[in-house]
Amino acid sequence: MIELQDVHKSFGDFHVLRGVNLRLEKGETLVVLGRSGTGKSVTLKHIVGLLRPDSGKILVDGIDVPAADAEQLRVVRRQVAYLFQTGALVNWLSVRDNVALPLVEKRTLPPGEIRERVDESLASLGMLEAAERMPAEISGGMKKRAALARVLVAQPRAILYDEPTAGLDPIMARTVGRLIRDVQSSGERTALVVTHDLELAFAVATRIGLHYEGELIELADPEDFKQSRHPIIRAFLDGEDDTAVEGNPR
Ligand SMILES: Nc1ncnc2c1ncn2[C@@H]1O[C@H](COP(=O)(O)OP(=O)(O)OP(=O)(O)O)[C@@H](O)[C@H]1O
Ligand SMILES: [Mg+2]
Repeated sequence: MIELQDVHKSFGDFHVLRGVNLRLEKGETLVVLGRSGTGKSVTLKHIVGLLRPDSGKILVDGIDVPAADAEQLRVVRRQVAYLFQTGALVNWLSVRDNVALPLVEKRTLPPGEIRERVDESLASLGMLEAAERMPAEISGGMKKRAALARVLVAQPRAILYDEPTAGLDPIMARTVGRLIRDVQSSGERTALVVTHDLELAFAVATRIGLHYEGELIELADPEDFKQSRHPIIRAFLDGEDDTAVEGNPR
């Protein structure tokens, strides 16, 4: 349902994406690992049309995203939710009202049901007690959890998670990992998870790849990925400095 073909993107002289290819089928959970600054978030932003590629194709359920008009983009964004790395809560709305936003916008549910679903989603992330607080009054990790509650409550067909566990304590990180797995267990939901968190990666992935030098390399089954002999993948998994790896152009 999500496909990127040979996507290139530069910012000025900086060639960030140098031919990204990926294909995500319904029900898959693809984890993309990679060092900081390699272009993982830039890749996700292309999928929901927040950035346009210099060349290459991006398709979501047959919609050509870079060429999409406003109505088609709305369709894409309703189906594909994006958990921003920074959370991106609306500052003047309480946590509960932030989480309710996607349901209020849909205008299909009565207020009582919206409230019920929102509180259920908040409770699953241990955030119910903070429901009345404003974003400025909660910690970074709580913002992240509120943003995740907002993504999950909308029950989109696909979810792009950008560093869902960054900034969370280890216990909350595991809770989030379990939630992501639960959401995926129906087999109806497609997910793309960008992370540095190897524990999370192996807990949720049906496939794993590494974002490296502007491309996705070694997209593989988690077990095969773990056993990979690719020197860059080994360096990443073993936490070594990949600039020391032979053949690395950097
Ligand atoms: N809108 C933009 N304008 C200019 N440069 C940008 C823009 N967005 C991203 N970049 C640059 O592109 C590179 C990749 O950024 P990106 O945010 O995708 O990294 P990342 O892989 O998500 O890193 P991290 O793991 O730290 O989140 C960075 O060098 C960044 O500075
Ligand atoms: Mg990022």
